[in-house]
Amino acid sequence: MSSQASAPIGVFDSGVGGLTVVRALMERLPFEDIVYFGDTARVPYGVKSVDTIKHFTAQITEFLLEKRVKMLIIACNTMAAVAADVVKRLADVPVLDVIEAGARSAVAVTKSNAIGVIGTPTTINSNAYARNIHLLNSATRVYSQACPLFVPLVEEGWLDHPVTRLTAHEYLRPVFVEQIDTLVLGCTHYPLLKPLLQEVAGPHITLVDSATAMAEQTAQLLGEQGLANDKRHAPDYRFFVTDIPLRFQTIGERFLGRSLAQVEMVKWN
Ligand code: DGL
Repeated sequence: MSSQASAPIGVFDSGVGGLTVVRALMERLPFEDIVYFGDTARVPYGVKSVDTIKHFTAQITEFLLEKRVKMLIIACNTMAAVAADVVKRLADVPVLDVIEAGARSAVAVTKSNAIGVIGTPTTINSNAYARNIHLLNSATRVYSQACPLFVPLVEEGWLDHPVTRLTAHEYLRPVFVEQIDTLVLGCTHYPLLKPLLQEVAGPHITLVDSATAMAEQTAQLLGEQGLANDKRHAPDYRFFVTDIPLRFQTIGERFLGRSLAQVEMVKWN
């Protein structure tokens, strides 16, 4: 095994939401070490300008490259939508982003070639999902909808709450009119709403969870590039954040699906 293969995977997000991707990675690749970075002091990114997001993304990329990661995963859909080019320019290791992974999964799943995409306003305005889907199949019709209220509802823990159900009906009504058969959950927070969204969407619509899609694509890339860690050891997980806000532990553990140990603070001026 090369020394590169034993290095950790770097994963980053605007806050704790990217832990849904970490959770999927832990399940799919249980022997890989992971270094996570969540910009909890500056979250949310989904309503910020493109220039600001690019600037923050460059800072985080440099931080993780200094940790000698073997690859980088952009877990945040918003960063992937508007700043993936920044990461790819700075990184000398492979870079995967949730949007490419989600688009690929959606195109593989759809039979009617009509796909719905939901995400933050910045992700939806960037049109990044539609662009990635059209690169794979130009005949696909893509119907996008920003759902800004979902992030705070998930952080509030209202995963199965009448207010969230009503909000979902309201947001998704125009998308369902288009006879989609696939709905991409294009935000780190939305996998937690999967049971509720599946209920609202009905059984004929397949939900594509970009966290799971990302874990699958990571496994494939590590295999292809000889970067898989084949040491059968207990993996090392490190979590860096820029702030430890109120309820951080509770919210983080909800996203991760297990206890959140070894959280380290990074102070940026
Ligand atoms: N991580 C963001 C995303 O996936 C959601 C939270 C935010 O707006 O920063 O789009």
